[in-house]
Formats: sequence, structure tokens, C-alpha cells
Amino acid sequence: MTAQLIDGNALAAQVRADVAHRVQALKARGVQPHLTVILVGEDPASQVYTRNKVADSEQTGLGATLERYPTDMTEADLLARIAQLNADPAVHGILVQLPLPRHMNSHGVIEAIAPEKDVDGFHVASAGALMVGQPGFRPCTPYGCMKMLESIGMTDLKGKHAVVIGRSNIVGKPMALMLLQANATVTVCHSGTPDLAAQTRQADIVVAAVGKRNVLTADMVKPGAVVIDVGMNRDDAGKLCGDVDFAGVKDVASWITPVPGGVGPMTRAMLLVNTIEAAERASA
Ligand code: GUN
Repeated sequence: MTAQLIDGNALAAQVRADVAHRVQALKARGVQPHLTVILVGEDPASQVYTRNKVADSEQTGLGATLERYPTDMTEADLLARIAQLNADPAVHGILVQLPLPRHMNSHGVIEAIAPEKDVDGFHVASAGALMVGQPGFRPCTPYGCMKMLESIGMTDLKGKHAVVIGRSNIVGKPMALMLLQANATVTVCHSGTPDLAAQTRQADIVVAAVGKRNVLTADMVKPGAVVIDVGMNRDDAGKLCGDVDFAGVKDVASWITPVPGGVGPMTRAMLLVNTIEAAERASA
């Protein structure tokens, strides 16, 4: 079998087009949706990510501001700025890029964001809402993965066994909850799982979110399974690759996401969805 590709670029373009329509509808009512992105420090990757977030927003008609602060900004000053943005009705989404400098408590900073502006979905109120199946912002990466499953007709996952590899707060755990919400039977595996292959071989859906190359190889995949690769790694030649041995697994799976061009573009697109959603809710 050669798996079909779930094209993250094409799907993200559809999502952005839908967001652009929603932006126009809000603008027609006199509301300019706006995202404020905060970057503290000089982390090179964070500079690229935040620039992309602003550019993506502007491309769909969302207003976006990147606020940059020096590494030695105090946590008190950052919290004060977040409080101002929370109170500003012209700002609908607030995103504080992680990692923050070491002298700051990231948890405390994220909790300072008003939950109704938490477009990253990292606030405990957002996590709690997901946990109990209430409306709230969903973390962009697992949200994008669910959209990718929907795009191949996998909306109700009743009867499906999903195995999530990775238990991070921003991908693995929310991914498991979203799959559960969609009625899948869910197993969460991690570095302490003794026989990972025995788990993944049972799976109709595998989501790999570890951050390590070749975590999932062909011998670990049930023929016809759907494989979602959240990883973003570099191979020995410096080329971008995921957590999945794509060359091998594509011959066993029915559907697979490529890296690059899979989950990454969808993560970016879902931030725009969360932002327009925030603006729509604020002006409802
Ligand atoms: N750093 C790496 N990924 C992310 C993300 O999705 N959101 C934020 N705020 N910081 C990040």
C-alpha cells in the first residue's frame, strides 16, 4: 500500500480562506479583529515564528501587532502589559511566545492572559474547558490535527483506536482529549511506555508528537492506519523531518501527513481560527 498524503498546505489554505470571509463579515459590522503577539528576548526560532504569526494574520485581514521586549524585561512589567491588553477592547487575541527568559515563570504569565483572549489555548481555563467538553480555545497543533482527520472523512471516531505518542501539555494531552471527545478509544504512550510498538500496532490512528526522529517505523504500524506526524526535527543532512520514518511508513499506512507541509501549516492556520473566534465572541 502507498499512503495518500494529507496535504497540510492545501488544507491550511482552505482554513485561511474561511477565516478571511469571517474577518470580512466582522469588518462589515465595524469590528477589526486583532491579535497581539508578545516576544521577550532574542531567541532566533521565536523571532521567525512570531513574524510568521503576524504575517499569516495580516494575509487574512486580521490586524496583528508584534510587541518585542528585551531579555531583561521584568516579569512584573510583562504582567502589567498583559493586564493592559486584557482590558483593551480592540485586542481580541493575546499570544505570549514561549520559551520566555529563564527568570520568568511561564505558567504565571500564561495564567495572566484573560481566558477569552487565550488564542494559544494554553491557559488552565482553556485546558479545563477541553477536559470537560465545554467551549474554549483549543491548542492549535492538536486542533489542526483534528481538522486533518476531518478532511479525510474521519469525524466520528467511534470504534477507532487512536494511539498518541507524547504527553506534552500543548500537544499530547490535548490531542488525547480531542480524540476522546470525537469518540475514539485513546491510548497515550510516552518515554516510560515499555513496548511502544505493541501499542502502535493496535492503532487505527497514530499521532506522533515526541520531537525525535524515527519514533514510528513501518514495523510499528498496522496496515491501513492513519498516521499524523507532529514532529519537527532535522536529519543528518540538516533537512526538516518529522517523528515518523516517512519513507517506510508510507508503504503501510492508508493516509500520512508529510513533514514539511503537514501539521505545521495547520498549526499556523488554527491560530487564525482561534483569533477570529475570539473576536466574534467578543462582539456577539
Ligand atoms: N513556542 C513554540 N510553539 C509555540 C506556540 O504554539 N505558542 C507559543 N506561545 N509559543 C510557542
